[in-house]
Amino acid sequence: MKSVGIFYFSGTGNTEIIAEMIREAFAERDYQIDLIRMEDVLKNSRTINPADYDLIGIGSPVLGYTSPKIVRDFIRILPKILSKESRRKVFIFRTAAGVAPVNYNASKPIIRQLAARGYDVLYERIFSISSNWIFKYDDDVILKLYEASRKKADLLCSEVISGKKRLLKTSPLRRAMMEFVMLADRPFLRMVSKDYVVSASCSHCGLCVKNCPSANIREKNGKIKFGMSCNSCLRCVYSCPKNAIGFRTLSFFAVPGGYNIKKILAHPCPPDEKDKRSEPPFFKAYVGDIDL
Ligand SMILES: Cc1cc2nc3c(=O)[nH]c(=O)nc-3n(C[C@H](O)[C@H](O)[C@H](O)COP(=O)(O)O)c2cc1C
Repeated sequence: MKSVGIFYFSGTGNTEIIAEMIREAFAERDYQIDLIRMEDVLKNSRTINPADYDLIGIGSPVLGYTSPKIVRDFIRILPKILSKESRRKVFIFRTAAGVAPVNYNASKPIIRQLAARGYDVLYERIFSISSNWIFKYDDDVILKLYEASRKKADLLCSEVISGKKRLLKTSPLRRAMMEFVMLADRPFLRMVSKDYVVSASCSHCGLCVKNCPSANIREKNGKIKFGMSCNSCLRCVYSCPKNAIGFRTLSFFAVPGGYNIKKILAHPCPPDEKDKRSEPPFFKAYVGDIDL
């Protein structure tokens, strides 16, 4: 039986949903699947044996047009493959607010990082369910993106198995520009948590400390402290039961009213006509037949 190891990071659940869809698609094709969160590997110093897998999948949200720190940290601990014959085939799945050329270069740095360790990325695809940043899409749009994503997960699976090569491309100028943006973004994204403020409604339940994927939050002398390893995933902001974590200056980062994708999918609300958003620009192509 062939096997696939799917390693993913998901701040607020979107990438986890896609990872599950991909797992189901491989299972239908009789693959043996390991679905593993990168944070569990890193926190438990778990070792990975690439020889266990015929295929390796890497999943991550696009944050600030690039990859969060935790993904680069995870790749750094992947065992180096020295012989040419043992190199592993890798596919990458990203989730983003938009499936658009501005995000097409987001995986280039990790593709280089993987190649240097003996892992050949042959396929990448960007999925979208919703934005968890600044605004979310209307729930009816989210449901349609979700359904379209399931079909794309199935397509990814059959194309990866058939050996199809699919790497996202942009013009060299856009690529050069985005490489620059990504370099500038990295230190900024790591410092996002330095802008967090914890309000008096904090009940010190410890959930943010326990949930942070990079163990970047701790409680000291009754105060919540944030370190310098933030992924800017906003998990702590959205999962605080008291809504006690906010921003000093970047308050526009958080979706008004919070973001809980599982809740939206289970109980979608009709859009308030007054606040109804237009469909995102990529929507028609994504839910239609175009291979976006
Ligand atoms: C700080 C931050 C930055 C983001 N940057 C981008 C971006 O550059 N491009 C984009 O399309 N979406 C961006 N997003 C939206 C997320 O990529 C998207 O909602 C993703 O599906 C979230 O996945 P997750 O729920 O698995 O964390 C950003 C989200 C956050 C929180």
